[in-house]
Amino acid sequence: MNIVDAYKKDFLEYLNDKIFISDPVNLYEPIHYILQIGGKRLRPILTLMTCEISGGKVKEAYDAALAIELFHNFTLIHDDIMDSAPIRRGAETVHKKWDINTGILSGDAMMILASQCFETYEPNKFKQLITLFNKTALEVCEGQQLDVDFEIRNDVSINEYIKMITYKTSVLVAAAMKMGAIIANADDNFTKKIYQFGLNLGVAFQLQDDYLDTYGDESTFGKQIGGDILENKKTFLYLKAIEVCDKADKDKLLNLYSFKSSSEEKIKEVVKLFNKNNISEITKKEIKTYTNKAFEILADLSISEDKKELLKDFGINLMNRTI
Ligand code: IPE
Ligand code: IPE
Ligand code: MG
Ligand code: MG
Ligand code: MG
Repeated sequence: MNIVDAYKKDFLEYLNDKIFISDPVNLYEPIHYILQIGGKRLRPILTLMTCEISGGKVKEAYDAALAIELFHNFTLIHDDIMDSAPIRRGAETVHKKWDINTGILSGDAMMILASQCFETYEPNKFKQLITLFNKTALEVCEGQQLDVDFEIRNDVSINEYIKMITYKTSVLVAAAMKMGAIIANADDNFTKKIYQFGLNLGVAFQLQDDYLDTYGDESTFGKQIGGDILENKKTFLYLKAIEVCDKADKDKLLNLYSFKSSSEEKIKEVVKLFNKNNISEITKKEIKTYTNKAFEILADLSISEDKKELLKDFGINLMNRTI
């Protein structure tokens, strides 16, 4: 078993031990459900891995890793409501399987369970971790609001898009890593760099998510393909297409994104325009650019080469993922 799989296995054992269904069942069953239907567990793996790489004891990082995974899964339940998404991890989304109210309240409870995970840390670490957690959680809300605001705007720039995904996605990846470093008592300089590494990796990760939303395979990606197109999401794919295409295609795209629809026809039309304008290749290149930015920061870290390799392999796997 490789080291990443080993972290995942140990983390899942910890999670299964801590998260079970209790009363009221209608509150806890959806929580158990979303946590058990799958997920790559990237963020908790990063917390554990960073703790170990920074010279800390992995066991001490489990509660922070669990907090991060609980928070992430909470955002997924609410995100699926906001995005009208029917499928997550190849299974029905919580609000489809139950209803919207159930999704809202189970999500709220998960946010609180996440906060509680930090209570096991001694006061000095607790303060650092909860401060980072609260800052990050608020930024994720800001990113999610921008994402929704952009749906009805047709003047979103790629810079604004990068800011939006930095907030909705990257800050959590970065915080997951920083928590590992904090728990290991890493110095300030190292902690800051690891956070910057996480931010760039997170941007590459969300770009890849946008890519797979259009070009992925539902059976592996586990989400409805074309969901972003139906919701008029201002993804990198769309914004790049608007930037590079000719006037006729631009008018077509603007028109297609001027109404919401659940028709396969809309997806087909948009994908045709993306393909004609080489958007798939351009996006892949952008993903590489951000992954390489992360690797440049890595090169500068004061850790052994084999530890750098571990993080680098992780980044390369993310860039090539189909799930
Ligand atoms: C999905 O995250 C939400 C994004 C920020 C793109 P993941 O792709 O990590 O989802 P799971 O946890 O593996 O299902
Ligand atoms: C999700 O972005 C970011 C958060 C959940 C905070 P997306 O809306 O692209 O995530 P998916 O594709 O539904 O997983
Ligand atoms: Mg969303
Ligand atoms: Mg979504
Ligand atoms: Mg997505």
